Amino acid sequence: MEKKDQDPESKSAKNISRRGFIRGAGLSTAGSVLLSSNVLAFDYREHPAKGKEFGPGAMTIKMKVNGITKSISVEPRTTLAAALRDHLGLTGTKVVCDRGACSACTVYLDGKPVNSCIMSALDVGDKEVTTIEGIAKNGELHPVQEAFIEHDASQCGYCTPGMVMSCVHLVENNPNPNLEDVKDATRGNLCRCGTYPHVFKATLEAAKKMI
Ligand code: FES
Ligand code: FES
Repeated sequence: MEKKDQDPESKSAKNISRRGFIRGAGLSTAGSVLLSSNVLAFDYREHPAKGKEFGPGAMTIKMKVNGITKSISVEPRTTLAAALRDHLGLTGTKVVCDRGACSACTVYLDGKPVNSCIMSALDVGDKEVTTIEGIAKNGELHPVQEAFIEHDASQCGYCTPGMVMSCVHLVENNPNPNLEDVKDATRGNLCRCGTYPHVFKATLEAAKKMI
């Protein structure tokens, strides 16, 4: 005789739909990402493509990056990091973990740091993207970039663009940061070479020079 519906646990398990399970797993993953790395500054209630269906083929979208709007052809699965690197040639943004855990891929979306490896290119909509290539102005490095060089805050360099983006965001929004502020701003940026003391010193020095 079949055992169906006799075990209350198996019954409740059956009541969890596949879609519900995937949604729950996604939310739980997003939660851990928010704790471990830069905040994903995207509000899905304002999704530019709400109610539309895309894919599976490529489609043309416009994206404003570092002040310039360009058209690119991307598949719905294309991440923002892939769009920047593979479609726009902006390879300064690094992809290391490719799963939202290290913040090497940090760029700004309307001025807020996001992990571009876990964001869909389609989700950018009309928001402006700023990459590490857009941090220097008129051929002049940002004071944080200068300080990173001066204080030897980079070794292999894989984490460096993301680290610089987090530190620039801090000093641009907090004119007088202390050590704890710098640690907090870079808490999601993982550096396997252990450059943290140099990064902290460089950022504090840059902030002082910018006053
Ligand atoms: S968080 Fe994007 S590469 Fe690690
Ligand atoms: S400098 Fe190598 S991972 Fe940070």
